[in-house]
Amino acid sequence: MDIFYRPSVIRLLRVRGIVLILTGSVLLCFVVNLMPETTEISTAMKDQTLEYFLSQGKIGVNDAADIQWAHAANSRTKMTEALQSSAHMIEADILLRGHDPKEPIMAHPPENDSDISLRDWLKAVQASDKGIKLDFKSLQAVAPSMALLDGVRSELSGPVWINADILPGPGGKATPLDPKDFVEAAVTPVSHGDVLSLGWTTGWASDTDNPGYSWEMVREMEAVCQPLRQSVTFPVRAALMAQSFPQLQWLLQQSDRYSLTVWTGQTDVLDVEDLLTYRKHIDKTRIYYDLLDTQRAKLGALPGF
Ligand SMILES: *[C@@H]1O[C@H](CO)[C@@H](O)[C@H](O)[C@H]1NC(C)=O
Repeated sequence: MDIFYRPSVIRLLRVRGIVLILTGSVLLCFVVNLMPETTEISTAMKDQTLEYFLSQGKIGVNDAADIQWAHAANSRTKMTEALQSSAHMIEADILLRGHDPKEPIMAHPPENDSDISLRDWLKAVQASDKGIKLDFKSLQAVAPSMALLDGVRSELSGPVWINADILPGPGGKATPLDPKDFVEAAVTPVSHGDVLSLGWTTGWASDTDNPGYSWEMVREMEAVCQPLRQSVTFPVRAALMAQSFPQLQWLLQQSDRYSLTVWTGQTDVLDVEDLLTYRKHIDKTRIYYDLLDTQRAKLGALPGF
């Protein structure tokens, strides 16, 4: 027993104690340092769109190419058609009505009136299990629309996407909505589960070299989105993607909250086979294809889709 009282043993125990305390402190510092980051990661939202449609049995695999879209459901007739269609997501445009009552309505400029208000449109969606993509064409419409949306969130089962063009892009002539004002109005205390769909104004003309999305454009977009916690999808015009693939790939690499949504103009000349390249190089869960029905049919027939 007296071995424990030898001075050398006591010294050894003391040294061990000090080492333990030091190790403990270093570990504690580590944990405390990690804590804010851990909290940040847990509050950053993942896009739940695919999980939702998988859980509903509406898609069979975790593949964003399987999501179908109904476009411009901006009237009662078009909305009824969209609800009865096989589309998973219903897309509509929002403006403030040009005359009183100046409430949010479903319309695309240059229209200034509609036979359906956002309030009634949302009521129609509530009775369905579809997701929605609201495309804002005016900044003044955003805050009143988000208030209406927040009022019915508990009744909506599907995903909510909030879209606007917020930056000038390749060939873009329209004036984008101010990015800071749009994000401030679109992010509400209960909107963290929404997908923000943030795009560039664009243009495309036949028989000419159309420039793609520049490094400056994608960096500017990343600067807007980096501080956000919501998931973000970037709508990109199919006919401009080949010219901008390194830029778009870089943008996707900046956060796992980011995805792309490929769209196309009515008159764009597009070889759908080009899309196979992007499909090969981008994770299938991170690239949606919001195309015209004819292009969709061609795409579906390609091996690899
Ligand atoms: C709405 O559009 C109609 C038809 O294009 C036009 O005559 C009218 O002046 C517009 N109203 C407003 C308030 O902008």
